[in-house]
Amino acid sequence: MLDLMLEECEGWRNSRALRAPQNDVSHYSENTEDHALAYAMVAEGVSKRFDSVMAVSKLTLRIKPGALFGLLGPNGAGKTTTLRMIMRMIDPDEGSLRIFGEPLTDRVQDWIGYLPEERGLYPRMKVLDVLVFLAGLKGISESEARKRARSWLERLEIAGWEGKKVVDLSKGMQQKVQFIASVLHEPRLLILDEPFAGLDPVNAAVIKDIMLGLRARGSTIILSSHRMEQVEMMCDAICLIDGGQKLLDGELQSIKRQYGKNTLRIEYSGDDGFLQQPAWVEKTNHFGGMVEVRLRPDADPQEILKSAVERGVRIYRFELVEPSLNEIFIEKVSNKHGQNLAGD
Ligand SMILES: Nc1ncnc2c1ncn2[C@@H]1O[C@H](COP(=O)(O)OP(=O)(O)OP(=O)(O)O)[C@@H](O)[C@H]1O
Ligand SMILES: [Mg+2]
Repeated sequence: MLDLMLEECEGWRNSRALRAPQNDVSHYSENTEDHALAYAMVAEGVSKRFDSVMAVSKLTLRIKPGALFGLLGPNGAGKTTTLRMIMRMIDPDEGSLRIFGEPLTDRVQDWIGYLPEERGLYPRMKVLDVLVFLAGLKGISESEARKRARSWLERLEIAGWEGKKVVDLSKGMQQKVQFIASVLHEPRLLILDEPFAGLDPVNAAVIKDIMLGLRARGSTIILSSHRMEQVEMMCDAICLIDGGQKLLDGELQSIKRQYGKNTLRIEYSGDDGFLQQPAWVEKTNHFGGMVEVRLRPDADPQEILKSAVERGVRIYRFELVEPSLNEIFIEKVSNKHGQNLAGD
């Protein structure tokens, strides 16, 4: 197994600094130094091509300090490539990146905690030793690292495993250890690439609560995830990319508000014929016992309810809401691809 963590740690230390010189702010618009300082992370026109694949294309992002920011997109959208460029594991072909107003240097890199997409710790090292070693790379003393690591292991309910070899832990337990490695040095900016992948619901909830706690104490978190319901509950702001290009970004609440309350969320049992009304219903998205119904602009929800009752349908919930992030994601991505993936 590859020692990915070591490779990555070495990668951070050895990779060249990005092209923008330290004091060059010419690529920002007016008052840009102040402007960049106001953000935890600024990406300005960043692109990366791998042979024929344009993985990231002129991406501009601004992430406020203290935000929990969701970087979303379908498989192959360019999320991991973007995060790797922030980590200096890949150099962008063009554009610039700044963290808390500064270009990416070794010093700035020490402010960042990173959970990579490909998990991997030293399999034959003991859990506590690996955490102390990785914290040491970020400048934390051995005694302090031991203290912090023990406290985190306890919090994540794997304290009894501190003396075991990493290889003897389950996949989810290894992931918890790797999450601890990303937060042990108390980073100002935490970058988590798919932090919930492979975790059971209980552990996913524990990680989610820790993330919310870190944000409450002022950390900025960039999260890549396909779990739309988690992102919707947690994130302040999002950016949706596809084919390396930005489709949508902004505060989550204002994105949802733009759509307005144009969606019915209905829980019911019985004949679903009341949904087959093309004059009112633009599309439906079924989730087992619940259906999301995107209404046409002139649809009257009361008429749909009346039609359901007339058919003897049993209604448990009937609510007019803004569309879910899941629905917005599917609509934006399917529109780009000229398909209707979002249901009927
Ligand atoms: N090292 C590489 N060499 C060649 N192509 C690459 C490399 N890394 C990424 N790509 C390509 O760049 C594109 C973006 O990949 P990336 O891993 O950033 O997507 P992603 O949004 O993280 O997807 P996922 O949700 O599946 O993790 C893909 O087409 C991928 O095949
Ligand atoms: Mg990825």
